[in-house]
Amino acid sequence: MTLLFHSASDDARAWTAELNRRLPDLEVRVTPDIGDPADITCALVWKPPPGLLAGLPNLRLILSLGAGVEPLLEDPTLPDVPLVRMVAAGLAEDMAGYVTMEVLRWQRHADAYAAQQRAGQWRQLPHRPAAEVRVGLLGLGELGAAAARALVALGFPVAGWSRTPRTLPGVTALHGPDGLATLLAGSDMLVCLLPLTPETRDILNRNTFAALPRGAVVINAGRGGHLVEEDLLAALESGHIAGASLDVFREEPLPAAHPLFGHPLVHLTPHVAGVTHPGPCADHVADTIRRHRAGDPLPNLVDRRRGY
Ligand SMILES: NC(=O)c1ccc[n+]([C@@H]2O[C@H](COP(=O)([O-])OP(=O)(O)OC[C@H]3O[C@@H](n4cnc5c(N)ncnc54)[C@H](OP(=O)(O)O)[C@@H]3O)[C@@H](O)[C@H]2O)c1
Repeated sequence: MTLLFHSASDDARAWTAELNRRLPDLEVRVTPDIGDPADITCALVWKPPPGLLAGLPNLRLILSLGAGVEPLLEDPTLPDVPLVRMVAAGLAEDMAGYVTMEVLRWQRHADAYAAQQRAGQWRQLPHRPAAEVRVGLLGLGELGAAAARALVALGFPVAGWSRTPRTLPGVTALHGPDGLATLLAGSDMLVCLLPLTPETRDILNRNTFAALPRGAVVINAGRGGHLVEEDLLAALESGHIAGASLDVFREEPLPAAHPLFGHPLVHLTPHVAGVTHPGPCADHVADTIRRHRAGDPLPNLVDRRRGY
């Protein structure tokens, strides 16, 4: 079996080694060294150029290196073969860690203390206990659920919003338009962990911010397309939103001159909230390939109609 690997941001050599450790008979080819396209039956990709996969006549399986698959679904030539997204332990733990870090950053005044240290100041700032800081999660899937578990363990009251009804221990689970209104009205911190679909694009907009309590914090680790950046800048300017942590942007890399970059109330990271580590994530890929070979049902299949 021959697998094509394509990613500008993942380590092809590390992935090849991890995959061959688990599947010694798998031949891995890395773009641009495709060889004969007819040999390739499986592709492991992140943001392949449109048309790349359509040029593989014997492709039977597409594995996404990312949990979000909207870059693949935007390619109108994407072959109609099973598409499996990334669901792996290391990724969910990474994301739970990022969300916890950012929630604590704002709750515990981490940036203010860092500035005080640089200025040689010793001044205690009052903070609200976790039990009084309500966190609302948009998205209660693999990553939202992992973040919810971490926050519940720290004593934060957590509510989550999904498309269909969900149940999670210790979490107020809401869904649908009414559920969204309830969640927003009761969120001191709003965390976006949604997939980017036509329904969720631009969901972090002026109406959403207005529905949050004054002084709320917004954390976006979903996709840049969820956030209307001008609306966030206006909400920060007015003081209605007290701060934001952003890991994803409409344009990546974010241009250095972008107003979000130097904003004093914005904390930025360069799309690293949940990283696809080759070690743990290769288990998921190898398992999917084994199941595919055996003709078994595949887990984590993307439903192209719903967009995630
Ligand atoms: N920043 C990063 O480094 C990074 C890394 C990995 C992933 N991500 C982002 O995180 C996203 C989520 O990943 P995941 O693995 O948690 O996905 P997932 O398991 O598919 O979960 C998605 C969640 O969003 C909900 N949802 C989808 N459309 C909705 C809608 N229209 N209204 C309300 N809820 C909706 C789903 O509802 P149901 O439960 O009803 O299906 C589900 O709870 C990815 O798609 C990607 O965009 C970011």
